[in-house]
Amino acid sequence: MRLVLFGAPGSGKGTQGPLLAQRLKIKKISTGDMLREEVAKESPFGLKVKEIIGRGALVPDDLMIAEVEKRIKEPDVANGFILDGFPRSIPQAEGFDGVLKRAGMKLDGAIKLEITKSTLMERLLGRRSCPDCYSVFNVTTNPPKVEGKCDKCGGELVHRPDDKAETVGKRFTVYENATTPLVDYYKQRGLLLMVNADGPVDVVAGRIVSAIDGRPGA
Ligand code: AP5
Repeated sequence: MRLVLFGAPGSGKGTQGPLLAQRLKIKKISTGDMLREEVAKESPFGLKVKEIIGRGALVPDDLMIAEVEKRIKEPDVANGFILDGFPRSIPQAEGFDGVLKRAGMKLDGAIKLEITKSTLMERLLGRRSCPDCYSVFNVTTNPPKVEGKCDKCGGELVHRPDDKAETVGKRFTVYENATTPLVDYYKQRGLLLMVNADGPVDVVAGRIVSAIDGRPGA
């Protein structure tokens, strides 16, 4: 099964993506995690994108499309994937359609996580992320068992530099302008699956499972 997961910053893509991937026995591909890994490695690509991510803007479409095209050809995603955070603009969605066509693949659904802006802000300011295994926690709603340590791998949790209040505001504006047109794009193609992302993590996970129920491969 091949799915796209999109929604505003903090809507729960990084939380729900791994749960769904585990359930469907497919891989989650997060473009945000891919980019942060390149930044941490200080690769030429990482150095190029660090400043863009830091100010809450989008990395150029052509670079992202090329990165995703490489990634979906890797053997570990042959059974399917959930793309978290890509596409996030119409040019990326169109580019991705071309990528899928060239690879002889098709998309089975585009899940849109719906949430109010005030909830997002609370979630992002309280988020703590593991830079080693990409697990996500929240000081209020999903605290780690030991403060500051990842439950899964023991890594030191961080507050992402782009989770500062002023950058979150910028990311939300970018999301509204560039990413929300994807709702119509995928609706017109019969792929849109709207999910209410307000509520406990397991309840939202259940809604996602219900939304994809009946799709091929679910
Ligand atoms: P990316 O990492 O994709 O960030 P984002 O889209 O802004 O999304 P977030 O990771 O902030 O939020 P999320 O929806 O994953 O929420 P989470 O599950 O963590 O991208 C970062 C940057 O990289 C972009 O700004 C851009 O610069 C660049 N980039 C990435 N992809 C790109 C692309 N395709 N093109 C161009 N540039 C790109 O949850 C948030 C918090 O809420 C956590 O603390 C969590 O524990 C908590 N939480 C989650 N669900 C619940 C719940 N149900 N109840 C209570 N708390 C919850």
